[in-house]
Amino acid sequence: MNDGVTLQKKSIIKTDSQTLVNDTEINPIEIRDLYFRYPSCDTNILHKLNLKLETNEILAVAGRSGCGKSTLCHILAGIIPKTIQGKIQGQVELFGESVFSMKTVSLVKRVGIVFQEPDNQLFSPTIESEVAFGPENLCIAREIIGDRIEEMLDLVGMKAYRYESPHNLSGGQKQLIALASVLSMKPQILLFDEALSQIDALGRELIKAAMLRLKETGKSIIMVEHDFDNMDIADRILVLKKGQLITYEGAL
Ligand SMILES: Nc1ncnc2c1ncn2[C@@H]1O[C@H](COP(=O)(O)OP(=O)(O)OP(=O)(O)O)[C@@H](O)[C@H]1O
Ligand SMILES: [Mg+2]
Repeated sequence: MNDGVTLQKKSIIKTDSQTLVNDTEINPIEIRDLYFRYPSCDTNILHKLNLKLETNEILAVAGRSGCGKSTLCHILAGIIPKTIQGKIQGQVELFGESVFSMKTVSLVKRVGIVFQEPDNQLFSPTIESEVAFGPENLCIAREIIGDRIEEMLDLVGMKAYRYESPHNLSGGQKQLIALASVLSMKPQILLFDEALSQIDALGRELIKAAMLRLKETGKSIIMVEHDFDNMDIADRILVLKKGQLITYEGAL
């Protein structure tokens, strides 16, 4: 996958009389008519949902508690239906490839997710081992992992903490390490599921600054947010309502 470059798909349409070459843009995320319901529920959480996320875009998704924002993130990250089951219908593509047929190894290289609570995402004794965990599982060579730890910690502004324990950090710093761990697998798409909600004002500014830097390096970002003050970095705001993503018009 190339960094920050909009891919072009050339589809060739053959007719009786001519061959048409049609240039279609491949977006980081494209969802078409997505329906989803949990097995224990008789109504759809997502109902005919459509979305296109463009390269280098920061999209904020707002919506009332329980409207399905995390569910949507879980589908985009492949957690649903791989780990959490449900009735799912429609198309969800990452760079033109269906998320449903992707193996976990391919998924983690395309999309990374940062959750609300930093403490639940960190489990290694040192920051270095935390950031190394993902690439080690991808069987990446040791020398490459060493450089990658350096690069990712630099990207989130935490290089000086490489050999420290994550447990001594502030909430915001922990979230930056959780982000570096996700980035270490080099995903092009990043999902932040209310990742700013449990940290202090300084921490929020650190994460937002990191998100803007990541956008500049070619990443595409969805930030699920309830606080509109945090959405000042977003290029676009959509609201998840009645199972669909609609343009924000000043009300949830
Ligand atoms: N594993 C599950 N099984 C059954 N129902 C679930 C499951 N996970 C979530 N739900 C329900 O699906 C609905 C959407 O949940 P989801 O967590 O996606 O909402 P949300 O918009 O992220 O909410 P919040 O803003 O509180 O984080 C809720 O009614 C929730 O109770
Ligand atoms: Mg949620």
